[in-house]
Amino acid sequence: MITLGIETSCDETALAIHDSDKGIISESVFSQEIHAAYGGVVPELASRDHCSKIIGMLHNVESDCAIDKIDQIAYTSGPGLVGALLVGENFAQGLSFSLGVPLININHLEAHLHAPKIDPSIDLDYPFITLLVSGGHTMIVQVNNLGDYELLGETRDDASGEAFDKVSKLLGLGYPGGPEIQKVAKKGNPSSFSFPRPMIQDKSFDMSFSGLKTAVLYATKEVDKTDKKIICDIAASFQSAITDVLVHKLILSAENKKIDCIVLAGGVAANDELRKKVSEKAKAKGIRTIYPQLKYCTDNAAMIAYLGSLKASDRSFALESKVRARWPLQEC
Ligand code: KG4
Ligand code: ZN
Repeated sequence: MITLGIETSCDETALAIHDSDKGIISESVFSQEIHAAYGGVVPELASRDHCSKIIGMLHNVESDCAIDKIDQIAYTSGPGLVGALLVGENFAQGLSFSLGVPLININHLEAHLHAPKIDPSIDLDYPFITLLVSGGHTMIVQVNNLGDYELLGETRDDASGEAFDKVSKLLGLGYPGGPEIQKVAKKGNPSSFSFPRPMIQDKSFDMSFSGLKTAVLYATKEVDKTDKKIICDIAASFQSAITDVLVHKLILSAENKKIDCIVLAGGVAANDELRKKVSEKAKAKGIRTIYPQLKYCTDNAAMIAYLGSLKASDRSFALESKVRARWPLQEC
């Protein structure tokens, strides 16, 4: 069975094709650059850019698999930016109508959880715990099976990627903030500023990052922002604080739930300090850590096509809108 996957929930326009015999046979991702000037995603610009790029993405994947071979179309219908999601949905519906193939609407978060399974070289059995850390989400989820998820903890305010992006802006660095902070943090001293580790003493697996961001804001007001060494020190101290919280909550949840396998997903999973700390702590506790390929950690359509292939029983020809800005995992 051949599944076309479509992803437009935020600032990536992505299409991919999954063949149930061969796995992912084609994938194409366009990461929108127009938001860099604003230090964050501007919803209307995102929708407009999806409109202008999505046909080009279809042409890219068509070169690997003729469009008339497609048996079904899976697309992200939430959670995400409504205008952006509607572009993907409308495109999926138009193709479904013209090709006469059914549609499956996919929850973006659920797709992230199953993304490591796309790679046949990764040996991953249920149950496992995933730390999903991106610009829009920060959550710890126990994945018991397809459709069986337990949200163990989540951020009560900013997502961790959002915190990286906002701190980067405060420090006069670029967007997206994560890679910029990681780069300058290498030249800084992580102990030079004692930023808070919010909720680290709290027994729940929930997190909070807005207070940490505010602490960085106050620190930047008291220093000379033209001093590059200070910027590197603040970046290193911030990165140290946020990764301490993420690692602590992740390992605590795995121990508490007696799960011996953890997965890192989302754009922040690319952070080398986070990976180093998770690997060290997990190894010490006898927990296996899985890092999916980076292209399957960040937003992509391969994960949408793959999950669509697992959910073939949910397909329909209905053309009403299923787009949802919020769509909790528990409702999948
Ligand atoms: O998963 P993703 O590509 O898109 C969504 O937000 O859905 O994640 C993007 C986020 C951004 O906030 C970006 O700053 C962060 O991931 N990020 C990083 C790193 N690379 C990307 N954060 C920390 N360290 C990194 N190396
Ligand atoms: Zn995502």
